Amino acid sequence: MDLYEYQARDLFEAHGVPVLAGIVAETPEEAKAAAEKLGGVTVVKAQVKVGGRGKAGGVKVAKNADEAYEYAKEILGMDIKGHTVHQVMIAEGADIKEEYYFSILLDRANRSYLAMASVEGGMDIEQLAEERPDDLARVEVSPSTGLNREVADKIVAEAKFAEDLRDKVAEVLVKLGDVYVKEDATLVEVNPLVLTGEGNLIALDGKVTVDDNADFRQPGHAELVDERTENPLEAKAEAKGLNYVKLDGNVGIIGNGAGLVMSTLDVVAYAGENHGGASPANFLDIGGGADAQIMADGLDVILGDADVNSVFVNVFGGITACDEVAGGIVKALEILGDSATKPLVVRLDGNKVDEGRAILAKANHPLVTLASTMDEGADKAAELANK
Ligand SMILES: Nc1ncnc2c1ncn2[C@@H]1O[C@H](COP(=O)(O)OP(=O)(O)OP(=O)(O)O)[C@@H](O)[C@H]1O
Ligand SMILES: [Mg+2]
Repeated sequence: MDLYEYQARDLFEAHGVPVLAGIVAETPEEAKAAAEKLGGVTVVKAQVKVGGRGKAGGVKVAKNADEAYEYAKEILGMDIKGHTVHQVMIAEGADIKEEYYFSILLDRANRSYLAMASVEGGMDIEQLAEERPDDLARVEVSPSTGLNREVADKIVAEAKFAEDLRDKVAEVLVKLGDVYVKEDATLVEVNPLVLTGEGNLIALDGKVTVDDNADFRQPGHAELVDERTENPLEAKAEAKGLNYVKLDGNVGIIGNGAGLVMSTLDVVAYAGENHGGASPANFLDIGGGADAQIMADGLDVILGDADVNSVFVNVFGGITACDEVAGGIVKALEILGDSATKPLVVRLDGNKVDEGRAILAKANHPLVTLASTMDEGADKAAELANK
């Protein structure tokens, strides 16, 4: 999950990273009150989970509370790259002398972390990375040590921070490394990390992505979820404990085992090329113990997707044999009753496949078509989706 800037700010503060005061507002009136509370110059900042806010007009410096009101009015409701601004953060204004860049992220290809830093931070870091890659220091950080002081010293030296600043910057980097590890993040980015006129370092803008797979040991992260930006189908699936990801096609997919479901997506997309570009509407892995209730829950989520025209159920019977799965499909259709309206193509194989097919043949449900291979099933489902 990506966090909002204000949430990143709060995590930074909790781990001792220097930040400025910030207050979230949802209306221009709240923004004005926040600016009055902070006093002096403030910055009105759109809270959206996408980069390039400043360039899109979503970051404005307000000289006083009345200006903060006007800017908040302008920014709230704005669309930034397809993201609606529901909240702004009113941040204390900083006296910026220099802007730096720092990030640490998961480097999957190298099974490691990668830290990047530059003394030329600010809004054009992507351009810098492209045009002058040598000015962006890249340092591998071992997951077994984390971003300790020794690594931080190496980063500040490679990024060529001024000698007299290195200690100070390294100290902040160690704390940002703490945020990364202790919050189970996959990305912590600060752009800009600023040096103020008084010589203080401050993380002025933060982007943090936390790893949802670590939710079980990060109970605090549940509070960071913003239901407004969540996909309603994904939220419904999550509430039912399903492994579901919404995609943008029109063939609903249900399978058992992540690998089988991934290949099903590929096969359906391939088959769709012959059927008007039909493609998968979702990823849904119902796992090993697929009983009738799980099948019903999965079908319920998929049939609730207005984009779905047909459903492909692709199950390889293993520990859960095909007869149980077939029984599950029949019961699921009973449970769903009239709310099941879209055609289902079912391909069963593996353990007790004959028994499973017999159960479906006997039930003879008008919406269900049996397929004997994965390719045949994908083709049929794509054809039905295109009708
Ligand atoms: N609190 C502040 N005080 C003074 N100037 C600020 C403050 N916050 C941001 N700025 C200025 O505005 C610029 C853009 O702000 P920020 O980095 O938060 O947004 P952004 O980079 O446009 O957004 P994103 O990171 O989403 O691309 C900063 O580089 C900085 O110069
Ligand atoms: Mg920024």
